[in-house]
Amino acid sequence: MTRRLGLATVIVALAACATEKVNPAVTSRDSTAETLGIVSTAFEVEPRANALGALERDARRRAVRFREVTSPGFLFAATRVPQGELDAGLWSPSELYELGGQLFTQRFRREDGYGAADLPAFGRFQRGERGGPDAEQCADCHRRGGLAGAGDASDNAYPYGDGENPDTGLERNAPSLTGLGLRELLAREITAELAAERAALFDKAKETGAPVRGKLSAKGLDFGSFTARPNGTVDASEVVGIEPDLVVRPFGWKGHSRTIREMVESELATHHGMQSAWFVAHATTAAKGAQPQPDPDGDGVTDEISEGQVSALTLFLAMQEVPTVEPPIVLVELGQANTNLFPRWLDGATRFRSLGCATCHVPELPLASASFTLESRTGAAPVTIDLAKDGAAPRIVPLADGTLLVRAFTDFKRHDLGPKLADAFSERGLASSSFLTPSLWGVARTRPYLHDGRAPTLEAAILMHGGEAEASRDAYEALSDHDRGGLRVYLTSLTRARRFAVP
Ligand code: HEC
Ligand code: HEC
Repeated sequence: MTRRLGLATVIVALAACATEKVNPAVTSRDSTAETLGIVSTAFEVEPRANALGALERDARRRAVRFREVTSPGFLFAATRVPQGELDAGLWSPSELYELGGQLFTQRFRREDGYGAADLPAFGRFQRGERGGPDAEQCADCHRRGGLAGAGDASDNAYPYGDGENPDTGLERNAPSLTGLGLRELLAREITAELAAERAALFDKAKETGAPVRGKLSAKGLDFGSFTARPNGTVDASEVVGIEPDLVVRPFGWKGHSRTIREMVESELATHHGMQSAWFVAHATTAAKGAQPQPDPDGDGVTDEISEGQVSALTLFLAMQEVPTVEPPIVLVELGQANTNLFPRWLDGATRFRSLGCATCHVPELPLASASFTLESRTGAAPVTIDLAKDGAAPRIVPLADGTLLVRAFTDFKRHDLGPKLADAFSERGLASSSFLTPSLWGVARTRPYLHDGRAPTLEAAILMHGGEAEASRDAYEALSDHDRGGLRVYLTSLTRARRFAVP
């Protein structure tokens, strides 16, 4: 995974990058992969290997800093791998992980296409759908708790505003990106099950010549009911938690986006003004800017992000580690007193269900396959990654009988959490008080909480639940502080594998 470089290799890498745009058939894979070996983003879980890895990464980062000042932009150029090489299977999953990891921690420069001609050099608050731009790299916001983690309150983003006043936008805290690939896979499987149920209702309606109403459920989750009419029209007014198209959208606080790739492209554009070729071709003028194609943000740089870079970043996020549950099984030393917290953890786990938390934050869902496919947009075969084998550890571990259980603590549905949590205005036509149940995976490491980061602690987050979660919240409040503490111990055990150092 880690490669040491001589100056000659860097020159080869640069030469390969320089020729890439002219002749995409040139195989730059070997030299590019070596260049990227400079910053290994993969972590070892075993403590000694983890510590050595941290030291090595630090040394390499220093070396890269010197290289950047002598050959500015060389690392970014090295990430411009042609999509054709990915399609041809020239990149192994671990190399793709490193490539994407480099992009995730890449500080974009004006010369790379950072920002836009009509936006300030840096703007804390976004203007409409367009970025500040408000950060130089993805990892500026997704960092708390480790690589691809959450954002602090001071990292909050403010989309849909006037570019100047925070109150005109919607305040959003950066969520953690752990376990992202498995979340997309679950959403895809649920969507496929619902599509099959919908098709069966239509078949029945045609057969009987009368409207047919049926329940929608997948993986034990209830999505309400749906009525299919023989003429092909529907009554979707009883669908619950998702939109009438029955597509599960697992990303964004509102549950507005279906795929990691969709998010990668919009995040690149809004936070950094880095526009992919696909984004330029497909996004609305409001999202990309009104200057003539192929440079809608007018900054003089075209083809800012290549299809290969979008794919690498997407696969890197899909391959993020899976958070763990680490109960306090040893005596925890708290000041003077040695306290065995395990019984309180057990108590908390029970209360998580009895208080009704588990109806929305569903502790585990079965997944049929951990094979993550990234569909080609150029007609090639999809790139396929096995999330049980590839990517950052810890990964999902199949049970003895092969079953895959994803412990993501979400039901993939939107819920109305009442007026106090409601946004000032509706985002993308969705109800302003409705939010997707956020995954509580690794929640001990993702503070602050809720869509705008208004809750500094787990308890504050729970007490701010309202609407559909009001009864659950009230039941929690009614407990003694000792009993509430058990639930807090349980939530604190939802964490990430121990790491020596964060990137
Ligand atoms: C200024 C802070 C900031 C930066 C920089 C940033 N993000 Fe985000 N990210 C957010 C916020 C806020 C959200 C929630 C967005 C929403 O609810 O619509 C988010 C959501 C996401 C999601 C969806 C996760 C989920 O579970 O809903 C992905 C994927 C993502 N970001 C990837 C990236 C990538 C890739 C980059 C770099 C190209 C990046 N982000 C840069 C703040 C940031
Ligand atoms: C009706 C569904 C529902 C129930 C019941 C529910 N929650 Fe939530 N929970 C949500 C939604 C939706 C959000 C996101 C709200 C927001 O961002 O404003 C949330 C947010 C959270 C968060 C913050 C997560 C983060 O990443 O910011 C925590 C912690 C949490 N819930 C714990 C609990 C606990 C503990 C219980 C039981 C006492 C509970 N929830 C009951 C739907 C529910």
